[in-house]
Amino acid sequence: MLPPPFAAARSRLDRLWARGTAFLGTRFAIMGGAMSWVSERHLVSAISNAGGFGVIACGAMGPELLAAEIAATQALTQKPFGVNLITMHPQLSELIEVCIGAGVTHIVLAGGVPPGPAVRAVKDGGARLICFAPALVLAKRLVKSGADAIVIEGSEAGGHIGPVSLTVLAQEILPHLRDVPVFVAGGLGRGEAILSYLEMGAAGAQLGTRFAASRDSIAHANFKRAFMRANARDALPSVQLDPRFPVIPVRGLVNEGTKRFLEVQAETVRRFQAGEVSREDAQLEIEHFWAGALRRAVIDGDVETGSVMAGQSVGMVTKDQSVQEIVDELVEQATQAIAGRE
Ligand SMILES: Cc1cc2nc3c(=O)[nH]c(=O)nc-3n(C[C@H](O)[C@H](O)[C@H](O)COP(=O)(O)O)c2cc1C
Repeated sequence: MLPPPFAAARSRLDRLWARGTAFLGTRFAIMGGAMSWVSERHLVSAISNAGGFGVIACGAMGPELLAAEIAATQALTQKPFGVNLITMHPQLSELIEVCIGAGVTHIVLAGGVPPGPAVRAVKDGGARLICFAPALVLAKRLVKSGADAIVIEGSEAGGHIGPVSLTVLAQEILPHLRDVPVFVAGGLGRGEAILSYLEMGAAGAQLGTRFAASRDSIAHANFKRAFMRANARDALPSVQLDPRFPVIPVRGLVNEGTKRFLEVQAETVRRFQAGEVSREDAQLEIEHFWAGALRRAVIDGDVETGSVMAGQSVGMVTKDQSVQEIVDELVEQATQAIAGRE
């Protein structure tokens, strides 16, 4: 039992994120952002069991592997969880079928505007559709075409990022998009910050980095240690050297790999200018540099040359915690902040 000022503050918090908890079917409107190689059965079920909402990252998995991952997650939790599918996946429709067949209630379509048939397949299958929107116009378009909820992810986030911070996206989108619940993501590490976005109209929050470093994450000890040591300023977006060879911005910890990436780009551009390689091949070489690099960091623990994707919130990873401890701490911080005003 919470003492009266905290009980009142907790009810206020519950009211603030009621739309999010109703949509997700959870106790708290805290989503665990899907992270390739990291968001598997253990982390996802731990987040859902802690009162949040775990999301499996399908990544490059095929239908059989995904079906097995969903079944294994269902064996570890009775609570709802979602599956994140990448729209470019060549077997997108089969993956949606797998989710629907397994009774997955929420599907996140990430990595671009989802194609119409995919949207229809999710909706016809009775699942709720969550999409990412990097701008208000796109958010409105996604809602019109069937998105049941939107995630706005600021450039503070780990992994693939857009150019705009959550501070600005939230101001541009939250006051103008009231038709569906909107979840905020990117750079969130404390409950007070989550509370501030709820008060601006967000339905809930999505975190990745803090959960990736948790005790329940299967990430290699080296990966978690790197998170523990890093400050916000160490989590930087990948750098593009030449506008002729675009690089998709990915935020991660600076290491030998990120330095080498610059050298490889410089060398590739030099070879292109010398006529030694075609533009297409040069672009492919640059794109292939990071192939398999996230797995190498997360699973093998190669944090020197692997891709150590992390958000700026990595500076708030300071101790070894379980998912339950992180979720409880976030809720406690938000509650204290409300109670402190009384
Ligand atoms: C290691 C790592 C891998 C990620 N992989 C994915 C992914 O596969 N798909 C996706 O939609 N987002 C991915 N993200 C983004 C997260 O889902 C989440 O939105 C983001 O981490 C939120 O920002 P935060 O890290 O500051 O909490 C990844 C993030 C990290 C840190």
